[in-house]
Amino acid sequence: MATSKEVKKVTTHTLQNMKASGEKISMITAYDYSFGKIFDHAGIDVILVGDSASNVMAGHETTLPITLEHMIYHAQSVIRGIDRCLVVVDLPFGSYQSNSEIALASAIRVMKETGAHAIKLEGGDEVVESIKRIVSAGIPVMGHLGLTPQSIYKFGTYAVRAKEEAEANKLMVDARLIERAGCFAVVLEKIPATLAKDVTEELKIPTIGIGAGSDCNGQVLVMHDMLGINTEFRPRFLRQYLNLNGQITGAIQQYIKDVKSKDFPNKNEQY
Ligand code: KIV
Repeated sequence: MATSKEVKKVTTHTLQNMKASGEKISMITAYDYSFGKIFDHAGIDVILVGDSASNVMAGHETTLPITLEHMIYHAQSVIRGIDRCLVVVDLPFGSYQSNSEIALASAIRVMKETGAHAIKLEGGDEVVESIKRIVSAGIPVMGHLGLTPQSIYKFGTYAVRAKEEAEANKLMVDARLIERAGCFAVVLEKIPATLAKDVTEELKIPTIGIGAGSDCNGQVLVMHDMLGINTEFRPRFLRQYLNLNGQITGAIQQYIKDVKSKDFPNKNEQY
């Protein structure tokens, strides 16, 4: 086991090299210190402090309510647990859409106040100027195309995007545009696997899929979904690795029983 001084940090260049060598990129969301630390020690390549915190941490129906201050709080907590992996932070809805100056100011706040390594924002041609401005300030930007949850009220549904030719063509154009604007990677969410494969072959930067098939250069999942904390969300693309909801419920019920029956604490568990 390497000591912290010997740890080889994952950088945006590492991800580009992984694409070139064919090694897949693993990415997961985290929103706090303890899980960030576990995931980093487990060997994850990238942690995304996603605006899905709005759903899974705060209980909102969409990602729209979460603020830049909330995202900064979550990112500060995660970063304290990290030795090695790359930490990317979502710019939340309303913090970058108005114009590139506001987008840059939001990105600078995230980088300055959290110590994170990159930001992510959603969209194609409409955010190209913001991407250029943020990248030219030295801040790495991850893009996000396909199902972009901050636009849920425009889409009206969380169904698969870009099934029709026109939308698929626009996604390809957007992918080329954001690559040229300087993005170091792009998340492709809930699009046909064939389209994700085409985009992955077309771009030099890595693609990271969620519901976008096996040909992406990497995969990302929301931690609460893959660990089975959140049991209501069961889309086809999700592989659930644990049933933490069931395990935690069992543990809490056992604890309640032990307290009520006066089994806990016993003689060895007191001073
Ligand atoms: O906020 C998030 O969790 C995300 C992932 C779904 C990619 O953007």
